Amino acid sequence: MMATHHLLRLLGILAAVSIGATQSTTVRIMPLGDSITGSPGCWRALLWRKLQAAKITNTKFVGTLPAQGCGFTYDGANEGHGGYLATGIVAKKQLSDWLAQTHPDVVMMHLGTNDVWNNQSPEAILAAFGTLVDWMRASKADVKILVAQIIPMSPPNCAQCAARVVALNAAIPAWAAGKNTTLSPLVVVDCWTGFDAVKDTRDGVHPNDSGNLKLADAWFGPLVRAIQG
Ligand SMILES: *[C@@H]1O[C@H](CO)[C@@H](O)[C@H](O)[C@H]1NC(C)=O
Ligand SMILES: *[C@@H]1O[C@H](CO)[C@@H](O)[C@H](O)[C@H]1NC(C)=O
Repeated sequence: MMATHHLLRLLGILAAVSIGATQSTTVRIMPLGDSITGSPGCWRALLWRKLQAAKITNTKFVGTLPAQGCGFTYDGANEGHGGYLATGIVAKKQLSDWLAQTHPDVVMMHLGTNDVWNNQSPEAILAAFGTLVDWMRASKADVKILVAQIIPMSPPNCAQCAARVVALNAAIPAWAAGKNTTLSPLVVVDCWTGFDAVKDTRDGVHPNDSGNLKLADAWFGPLVRAIQG
């Protein structure tokens, strides 16, 4: 009897150890941005579906905003605030509160579109990005940060916006390298290359079906590496 009891205990411990080795802990992911991310931001639904197809299920998307309808149920909490500027989020000190409510391990940020639209300079936008990164690290010292080179735009009311996006995107890698740390890696995600502001958006700004597919593809590899790294 005694031997059986010990054997069962041992088997239980071995089972627990092997489960621990195969099932990683849940990784909390915050999509941070504006309407391109949040309203409805169906590229996130496609991205979530790609994770399920790849059997990467140890994720929880977090944010104070709920999923919007994208045709199927998905894990869609997010911090994609329509109309928001990176410089505005910093001026209003909004991110710290969102972080305190949601505790992300990974932040995937696609911001700057509304800053560009409102003619904020790349320097001002990157200074705001820097403050946002500081707040993320204050929330979690080893947070992993993915920063998008944002999708192109060509809204009818802004002839200069296309070039402004190019200028911002061009400045992001050097800024990111300067802000990078071993503890809290910051990775640049190229959402721009291959994305057509006319064919892949419904209005020169917001992704349509083809744009959503491209955004999901752009984020997938970097996000998987952040989840598994
Ligand atoms: C930051 O460092 C990580 C390795 O820790 C690297 O993978 C990543 O590309 C670096 N990011 C930048 C912007 O240089
Ligand atoms: C995306 O929108 C553009 C312009 O509105 C249109 O030409 C294109 O056919 C759309 N593509 C898809 C897949 O919805």
